[in-house]
Formats: sequence, C-alpha cells, structure tokens
Amino acid sequence: MPAVIQNDVPMRGKGVYGMNSGQQHSAMLNALPLISNSVAESWGKRSYADRPFTIVEYGCSDGKNSVEPVAAALRPLLHAKCVQIFLNDRPENDFAATSKNVEKIEENGEKDGIRAFTAMVPKNFYKQVLPPNSADVGFSLMSVHYVNTLPPLRAGEGALDASRRETKQEIWEKDFCSFLVLRASELVPGSSLVLSFLSNPPEGETNFEVVNESLRWAQQEMIREDILSQDFIRQFELPTHYPSPERVREKVTSVGDWEIKDLFQQEIKHPAVQELKERRAKRDDAKDLEWYANTVIDWFMAVISGYFLKTLLITHGEKLDEEQRERVLEDWKVRSKKRFLAEHKDAKVSTWLVFVRLQKH
Ligand SMILES: C[S@@+](CC[C@H](N)C(=O)[O-])C[C@H]1O[C@@H](n2cnc3c(N)ncnc32)[C@H](O)[C@@H]1O
Repeated sequence: MPAVIQNDVPMRGKGVYGMNSGQQHSAMLNALPLISNSVAESWGKRSYADRPFTIVEYGCSDGKNSVEPVAAALRPLLHAKCVQIFLNDRPENDFAATSKNVEKIEENGEKDGIRAFTAMVPKNFYKQVLPPNSADVGFSLMSVHYVNTLPPLRAGEGALDASRRETKQEIWEKDFCSFLVLRASELVPGSSLVLSFLSNPPEGETNFEVVNESLRWAQQEMIREDILSQDFIRQFELPTHYPSPERVREKVTSVGDWEIKDLFQQEIKHPAVQELKERRAKRDDAKDLEWYANTVIDWFMAVISGYFLKTLLITHGEKLDEEQRERVLEDWKVRSKKRFLAEHKDAKVSTWLVFVRLQKH
C-alpha cells in the first residue's frame, strides 16, 4: 500500500469531457466579469513593457471552457500587440485534445490586432508552474476543489465515513494555502487571480445529490449481481473537498499575500434543467426526460470515470483487463441513467460554487 495516493486521474479524454461539460460552461460564464475586471486593472497599472502581457489558466482540461475566459481576458487589452497564454493541467491530461482548441483560443484577439501565443504546461499546480513574477492574470475554474494526495483509508474506514471527510478537509485546506502561495510567487504584484470551485451548499441545498444517489444505487445493484465488490464501494471516492465560503475566506486571509476583491457563493444549475423546462412547456414527450437523464449522468461520468476505472484496477485488477473494466464502467453508466429516469426524472441538478477574485499585494 503506498504511503500516499496521488491524484493523477484526468478528465475523460478525446474531447469527451468538453462535450459533456455544460454545467462547467455555465459556471465559467459567471466568472467572465471577474476575469475581464482583473485584466483591465492589471493592464491599467502596467508600467513596463519588457515582456508580453501574460495570462495563465490552472486546470484547463481539454480547453473547451478556456476559449471564452481567454476572450474575456483579451478584450480589455487595447494596444497590446502581443499576449502570452499558458494553459496548465496535470501531465495526465489529454493535451492532444487541448491543442485542438488553441487556434480558437488565439483567434479571439485577432480582430483587435492582438497576436496571442499559447503554450501548454503539463504540471501539477500544487508545484510551481511558471517562473517567479512572470504572469499578469491567473484563473482557475472548477479545479481547486481537488486535493493533491490522500493517505490510504485506515483499516475498516470507508470512503464515505465522516473521519475520511475530515481528513479530506484538512488536506484540502493545506493544499489550498499552498496553491495560493505558489500563485503569489508566479504572479506580479498588483495582478489578480480568479478562482471558481465547488463549495459546501447552504442548509437544505445539495450538490447534485440526485445524480449521486443514482450512481450509488447503480453500484449497489452491481454488488448484488457480483459485478462490483464491497471493497470497491469502500474505496471508491473523489479526491475533492467542498469548503464553505467562510472557510475559503479564512484560508485566503491566513496566507496573507492576497487581498480579497470579490468572494461569493452561487448556485449554478445544469443548463439541461432550463432546456428540459422549455421542452416540457411545448410537449409531453418521454424522450425529453430520457435526454435529460442521459445528459446529467454523462456530465458527471466525464469527470468521474477515471476515478471509477482507477479503483476498479486496484480492487479487481487481477480479474478484469482494460477492455472489461471499460465495459463495467459502461454498465454502471447505463444503470445510473435508468435509476435517474425512474426516481428523479425532472429533478433539478445544480452545484454550488464559490467565486473568488484576489489581488496580489
Ligand atoms: C472539472 S475539470 C475543469 C476544467 C475546466 N477548467 C472547466 O471549467 O471546464 C478540473 C481540471 O483540473 C485539473 N486538475 C486537478 N488537479 C490539478 C493539479 N493538481 N494540477 C493541475 N491540474 C489539476 C484536472 O486534471 C481537470 O482537468
């Protein structure tokens, strides 16, 4: 058993993540004013011209949701002839998929005469990603709720136990502070960092509980049919923590390098919620409910599949080869969709995010 479990799982590759990231897209739209305000402030203050204005995204995945944030960052950069863009994610990310979005990312500046140059940086953002004092604005969308490493589960402990949640909270708080310290070294004084990530919902609300219930129910059914083991259920988890906005504020303040310009929590509904409502206002067709179940389960599967496959490899690796593991994953997906359709049908799927804009002292 390794001393720590590294979070090295990428989102689903070959563009599947981007195609199923409608919810992240909606969340990203809410961060755009924070990004363009940050750039406008940094650009206004800039008193030197010894390097191109530099924008960095931490946790870009396949880059589909990077196009609009970079466009928002380029808009205030009047008279900037040359801009440098760094797209960072972990080395395991499908950068071949990211590279297909680079042209789209760069062409947004062209009409204003801005030549953009993009580089991809395959590095863990819990390490230093760029040289000191080298970037003017940074942003990270839906990525900072992931921890870097976790200890193995204790004997008899399950992934859903309260003790494990406490461990994750403790680790996330340390990781988040280290993320802020690293970014403070990379960004120049007066520059901004925009973050949005999953947070603990207010009383009475949940983060996509109806999706979670469907996935858990499908796993239990697969245990009853001897497809998954109890040990799989004990070990299966996402290496994430969803902090309260108050805790985020405390942690940022404790680091000391940053002034909080904006910090608020917001519910972001999956866009399929609204589309289903519009379809149902016009007609009563069971196909629309089926479409909704498929959309919201595929959305979550694009994020969670790699973690499912990794746990399956650990707990069933001797019995199942790669192709068989993919088939078990597909089975889980189909069962989860059936459960969603049977029990949750048109239930709201939403996430609660914290949006933060920080300025470096
Ligand atoms: C849910 S995706 C968000 C992608 C994109 N920003 C969006 O909004 O659609 C989270 C991304 O964060 C990346 N990520 C998580 N931990 C990371 C780390 N330590 N270093 C770099 N990237 C990380 C994941 O690989 C993944 O691509």
